[in-house]
Amino acid sequence: MSKQSIGIFDSGVGGTSIWKEIKALLPNENSIYLADSKNAPYGPKGKDTIIELSKKNTEYLLSKNCKLLIVACNTATTNAIDYLRDTYPVPFIGIEPAIKPAALQTKTNAVGILATKGTLSSALFSKTSNLFASHIRVVEQNGDGIVELIENGQLYSDEMKSLLSLYLKPMLKANIDYLVLGCTHYPYLIPILIELLPKHIKIIDSGEAVARQTKSILKKNNLLNTETIISNNSFYTNGNLEILNSLIGTNYPIEYLDF
Ligand code: DGL
Repeated sequence: MSKQSIGIFDSGVGGTSIWKEIKALLPNENSIYLADSKNAPYGPKGKDTIIELSKKNTEYLLSKNCKLLIVACNTATTNAIDYLRDTYPVPFIGIEPAIKPAALQTKTNAVGILATKGTLSSALFSKTSNLFASHIRVVEQNGDGIVELIENGQLYSDEMKSLLSLYLKPMLKANIDYLVLGCTHYPYLIPILIELLPKHIKIIDSGEAVARQTKSILKKNNLLNTETIISNNSFYTNGNLEILNSLIGTNYPIEYLDF
C-alpha cells in the first residue's frame, strides 16, 4: 500500500505550490495531481457547491487508488474537509491560512491576510482566527480576481500588479509586519509581492507545514514509501495544459481530463 500514490487536488493550478513542497520533503512518494481548473475559482462559490466539487475530485483520486489525499486548496479545506473526512476511508491533509504563526510573531500587532472569499467567510477560518489572533489586528483582504489571472496565464501582468497594489494598501496603512498567503495559488505571487512590499514585511504561507504534516501522517499510518527508485508523478487537468506545464516544468506527464 505504501507504493500507492498521494493524491492532491486543487480548484486549479495553485495546489502545485503544495505539490512542490511534498516533492522536496518526500521525494520517494508517487503522486497524482488533479487540477479542477474548469471550475476555478472556488472562492466565490457557496459551501454546498465547494463540497460537491471536492467530492468529485476525491472520488476521482480514490478511483486511482490513492493512499492519502491532500486538499491543496484553502477554500476546499475550510469548507469541505470535515465532510470528506466523515465520508471517505483515507487520511486527508488540509491547508489553512498560517494565521497562528503570524499572530505569535508580529511585533506591530497587525497582520494582513490575503485569501479567497470562501476561506475568509468560513466557520473554520473564524474559529482559528478567534483562537489565535483575537489580541491583534487582522486585516483581511479578499483576493478577488487573483486566481482567475493565474489560471489564465497572466501571473506576471500589469493587471496583477495593480490588483495587488490595491489589496495591499489597507494592510500597509495598518502597519502590518506579516502577510499571510491564505490560498495555494498565492505563493506564485511572492516575486511580485517582494517588489511591492517594504522589506521588513514577512510573507508566510502554509506549504512547508502541510508537507511536514503529510510526512507525519504517512509515518503514523505506516504508509511512507521507502523505495528509492525514481518516483512517479502524474498530472490531470480539465483546463489549460500549458499553464499547468509552466508552473511544474516539462518533466512530468500532464493529461487532459474531461471531468
Ligand atoms: N487554491 C485555492 C485556495 O487555496 C484557490 C481557490 C479558488 O479557486 O478560488 O483557496
